[in-house]
Amino acid sequence: MSPTSFDPSSAQPVDPDVLRLAPGGPLRGTTRVPGDKSISHRAILFGAMASGISRVEGWLPAGDTTATLNAVRRLGITIERPAPTALIVHGGAFQPPDDSLNLVNAGTGIRLLAGIMAGQPFPSTLDGSEQLRRRPMRRVTEPLERMGACVSSAGGYPPLHFEPAPLRGIEYALPVASAQVKSAILLAGLFAEGPTTVVESGPGRDHTERLLSAMGAELRVDGGRVTLIPGRPLRALGMTIPGDFSSAAFLIVATSILDGSAVTLEHVSLNPTRTGLVDVLAAMGADVTMEVLGEAGGDPVGRVTIRSASLRGVEVGGETVVRMIDEFPAFMIAALRAEGQTTVRDARELRVKETDRIAVMAGELRKMGAVILEAEDGFQLSGPQPLHGATLDGHDDHRIAMSLAIAALVARGPSQIEGAGCVADSFPGFAATLARLGVDVH
Ligand code: S3P
Repeated sequence: MSPTSFDPSSAQPVDPDVLRLAPGGPLRGTTRVPGDKSISHRAILFGAMASGISRVEGWLPAGDTTATLNAVRRLGITIERPAPTALIVHGGAFQPPDDSLNLVNAGTGIRLLAGIMAGQPFPSTLDGSEQLRRRPMRRVTEPLERMGACVSSAGGYPPLHFEPAPLRGIEYALPVASAQVKSAILLAGLFAEGPTTVVESGPGRDHTERLLSAMGAELRVDGGRVTLIPGRPLRALGMTIPGDFSSAAFLIVATSILDGSAVTLEHVSLNPTRTGLVDVLAAMGADVTMEVLGEAGGDPVGRVTIRSASLRGVEVGGETVVRMIDEFPAFMIAALRAEGQTTVRDARELRVKETDRIAVMAGELRKMGAVILEAEDGFQLSGPQPLHGATLDGHDDHRIAMSLAIAALVARGPSQIEGAGCVADSFPGFAATLARLGVDVH
């Protein structure tokens, strides 16, 4: 793969369901990572609502985003795919779907679509896999009901059923720091009477605000208050989606902890609401540099340069947590290699991701000999801890499977990760990318 392009269709082999890794490294080279998952979901959904034809490059062709794409097609929107990473979205009015929409494992897909479906003049049902059916939805249905939405759920879980109802704008203080919830409310606000304001307690990811503004929506951001004033039509998009920082995170951690490694990642989104991991790694003594070189899809974009370094333990809590919420499984591996104690607090949300990421990571790493103390809202451990190779389970959670792969690289003896096909939910070509950087993976 050339360092200036990411073409998952050329990534061979296809991510296997069992990843076999020998300990090793060093990791060396320059690469890109696949397109940002959060922006890829939004590009389809917002492009579908715009008037005109949106052209998107750098789109993430992964399990989660494909689920959103298929759902939008079922709503009567034509989406052409001239290449795996290119979309042409013909925006327009949605048509009533003939059956329930299946978002498979995509939490972002179901929660953002919930905001949009609440405002449609026809009934619809949003559903997903068994995994998605275990993810809490009251956090979106409750504010949507306050806006007047007519929505029912299976006791606060999918499937979600919407009947047409007029919406009115509300002011809503987010009880959980969630960009998916913020986005669902703002999207419903596009169909509401009067302005909608969401109040956040910390800096949650802001892709919805950036993209909707770029498309001409009237949006005011004032500190933690985001107000959407409905009425303006959305203009079609022309954008290149940058690489996903959350995918880069696995390579950043692996390079940091494998002696003699040096990796450069090009064209990665460096949106500051997403890069909390780098701040924390810097406090641990890591050698990671971010250079903003341009802009793509409304995000600052640039290069990340990583060299291996000795790490020390750190305390993580407060506002940093939301800026690295998807990175904690990978971060746990960095903490295990660091000298001294690491404590994570205020990260209760990890328990309601694709899996309970505190319990699942601690449980799998124990199979490798790790000692990790779980707390309701985080964990504590002392390092450095030696790990031994083991047979591990990815639990159908892409970020778990990839984090365990990184753990396997610093273990003594080979490991295998079963149920690893899920890495393609966000990082198609993960194994091939690692192999290209020097890892013995098959
Ligand atoms: C996302 C928001 C976060 C994140 C998820 C993607 C988004 O979820 O964990 O991977 O695209 O808005 P929450 O909003 O539940 O924190």
